[in-house]
Amino acid sequence: MFDFPAFFSNHPLLLAPMAGVSDEAFRALCLEQGADLAYTEMVSAKGLSYANEKTRHLLSLAPGEERVAVQLFGHEPDTMAAQAAWVERQMGEALAYLDINMGCPARKIVSKGDGSALMKEPALAADIVRAVTRAVEHPVAVKFRRGWAEGDETAPEFARRMEDAGAAMVAVHGRFAEQLYRGSADWGVIARVKEAVRVPVTGNGDVRCGADAAAMVARTGCDAVMIARGAEGNPWVFAQARAALAGKPEPRAPDARERVAMARRHARLLAAREGRNIVRMRKHAMWYMAGLPGAAAARGRINACVDVEDFERVFDELLECVRAHGESGESPVLLPSSPCS
Ligand SMILES: Cc1cc2nc3c(=O)[nH]c(=O)nc-3n(C[C@H](O)[C@H](O)[C@H](O)COP(=O)(O)O)c2cc1C
Repeated sequence: MFDFPAFFSNHPLLLAPMAGVSDEAFRALCLEQGADLAYTEMVSAKGLSYANEKTRHLLSLAPGEERVAVQLFGHEPDTMAAQAAWVERQMGEALAYLDINMGCPARKIVSKGDGSALMKEPALAADIVRAVTRAVEHPVAVKFRRGWAEGDETAPEFARRMEDAGAAMVAVHGRFAEQLYRGSADWGVIARVKEAVRVPVTGNGDVRCGADAAAMVARTGCDAVMIARGAEGNPWVFAQARAALAGKPEPRAPDARERVAMARRHARLLAAREGRNIVRMRKHAMWYMAGLPGAAAARGRINACVDVEDFERVFDELLECVRAHGESGESPVLLPSSPCS
């Protein structure tokens, strides 16, 4: 079984669960760049209980992916427990641990009482954790936010209740649910959660580069760092974070050719998984290309791509454009959205 305590003793870097993003193609690329573990997209316990094929598909592993953290969402303790046990049976050694989503603020999720709505129902949240931990042998983690209502920080007390209910790790994103993704993440809450519990604490929110990861660990004392949007179009962030945490110089940012090459591999991996229709690659392609010469003009063409050949054509054109603009392939083109660039 996955050595959970040892894993969390060395500041692991985690690719966050991201619905519509953290499928096995993207996970494979982030793991290759140095992520220690990746989460699945959030998986509906209800969907699993109906044996929904699309939901089950979220559990498939990338070639070579040895382990994954599976995130479940739902609000019924019995359903959550039964499906957690099913996941454990299906995945065996490939399951690192289970995570329960108590942080998603999307309307369609919270309106059903799932995700961050559970922060308003801490007794029910604790019942879920108790039921799931009783049903499985693997460790059970919980991911949540700073609190529900803006200004009302409940995360430290919530974390204590989850720990008492059996959670083996808690991950906290330093925004309130009502904030959605506005403003900036408060890392102070990560330190306060760390003081409140004995189990490992994962910090999350606004880590965009290696220096951010090192700063988060230094300021909060968190045991692990979780990265979501900072990895979009930028799996290299994990190599940078690993170097920064080790006190070593960060590897240089990828140049234009490397970014196009990564996008190409991403599209091929997705095609191997999804077949002909890989429209979900469109957003990844935009992220990889942001800031490259010709990227703005390519936007419309990317949005018309459906299969891997469509994407390959756009990537070829972008490379031509990079050449025409005198990009030798050596000069780094940093992501314009990165505050670290
Ligand atoms: C596109 C997208 C999808 C997400 N899906 C999930 C999800 O399925 N489960 C979850 O717990 N959080 C989800 N999140 C939240 C992230 O895991 C993370 O907590 C949040 O983005 C803050 O981290 P960051 O600043 O590194 O992006 C999602 C975020 C984004 C941007």
